[in-house]
Amino acid sequence: MNIAVIGSGYVGLVVGACLAETGNTVICADVDERKIEGLKRNVLPIYEPGLEPLVERNQKQKRLEFTTDVGDAVGRADVAFIAVGTPPDEDGSADLRHVLAVAETIGKHMKREMVVATKSTVPVGTAAKVAAKLAAHAKHPFHVCSNPEFLKEGSAVDDFMYPDRVIVGMDSDFARSVMAELYAPFVRTGKPIIFMDIPSAEMTKYAANAMLATRISFMNQMANLCEQVGANVDMVRRGIGSDGRIGASFLFPGPGYGGSCFPKDVKALVRTAQDVGAPIEILEAVEEVNERQKKRLFEKLTKALGGSVKGARIAVWGLAFKAKTDDMREAPSLTLIDQALDAGAKIVAHDPVAMEEAKRRLGDRVDYAEDNYEALAGADALVVVTDWNEYRHPDFGRIKATLKRPVVVDGRNLYDPAKMQQLGFTYASIGRGS
Ligand SMILES: NC(=O)c1ccc[n+]([C@@H]2O[C@H](COP(=O)([O-])OP(=O)(O)OC[C@H]3O[C@@H](n4cnc5c(N)ncnc54)[C@H](O)[C@@H]3O)[C@@H](O)[C@H]2O)c1
Repeated sequence: MNIAVIGSGYVGLVVGACLAETGNTVICADVDERKIEGLKRNVLPIYEPGLEPLVERNQKQKRLEFTTDVGDAVGRADVAFIAVGTPPDEDGSADLRHVLAVAETIGKHMKREMVVATKSTVPVGTAAKVAAKLAAHAKHPFHVCSNPEFLKEGSAVDDFMYPDRVIVGMDSDFARSVMAELYAPFVRTGKPIIFMDIPSAEMTKYAANAMLATRISFMNQMANLCEQVGANVDMVRRGIGSDGRIGASFLFPGPGYGGSCFPKDVKALVRTAQDVGAPIEILEAVEEVNERQKKRLFEKLTKALGGSVKGARIAVWGLAFKAKTDDMREAPSLTLIDQALDAGAKIVAHDPVAMEEAKRRLGDRVDYAEDNYEALAGADALVVVTDWNEYRHPDFGRIKATLKRPVVVDGRNLYDPAKMQQLGFTYASIGRGS
């Protein structure tokens, strides 16, 4: 099949590369000239495990192409995926400007009957707006689909190649059969393609992210309560996670959720619900709890340093919002760093892959260390913010010998409190006593 993917960011690039990998001819288009120039030379704009070889191989074998000419990409396609950003508007609702601009371009440039599938996360009713934009210009029949994407940054290629499920919202048999054919190679193990009406598909994506964010905020509040009553949230997590009705995934407490999806999608759903007079109070609380949780690391750090961080040098391990990505959008590390700098501390930061992104965002407000141990030299405390593998089992002797004061704040519960105490650290973590 001939496919155009419009928007070549995290989602568009993964979708394009994976669809090319299964034999389709894919053109990924984006308005960002630098991004496209880089991609033509197999230089990826993001860190995503396993993606680079896919891009390189499929480009070499001429199944994958990159262009800034969105109209040309559309003119050569049977199926167009819209995968542009949907950032939060000022009132929290999703900003659909990019999605609708792309819909207009598709309408103007389509040269045959097409399926137009929205991959971007968009509120209920967007497909109808996309259809109206297409109809205003199209000279050929079109079929609008909602095909939300569930990939996770850090395991995006595997998530797309081996999805738990594929959701397709459509209202025509033509769209159904095209999407079924396109996704057949990815669901050979029997994972379902769930066809449904378009509004339900649009809502499914928000409901999924809202549920996952709720689990995180729930566990973070449990952790805080555990601290107050002398319980250990790790034990509680294992205790409830083994209940089949609850399940063990997504129950780790931490420094609050970040990234490009949960914060904006929870906000957008809250906004939609308020607008239609069916407020979802539980999600308003989820968001509020998360905002508070992102500030907890700073509180713990201040307490561990005796009440003030003024003049202290703080080593931060982990800047990305989670491991295996260089994405720092809404990262808890940014909240901690802002608070610490405002309070008069100095920061020296390390991340295995997000250093370039950090320099772009933070500039010379912080110092950067090439190596995670180098960050500790002359530091009064270490705060672990991201659960990168290389931070999980460090040389504690070296940490203690290098830090000026043996203070460790562990935002991901990577270390054993009893062992840390035995080693002589002042150690704080999430929901496991102090
Ligand atoms: N990142 C994720 O993990 C993830 C997962 C599932 C769904 N989503 C959703 O997918 C959508 C895209 O997210 P992303 O993280 O890939 O965003 P991104 O910011 O990484 O990429 C979006 C791309 O769209 C391009 N773009 C903007 N306007 C354009 C236009 N008019 N024509 C062509 N290109 C244009 C931008 O230049 C950018 O490269 C969002 O709605 C997001 O909520 C993201």
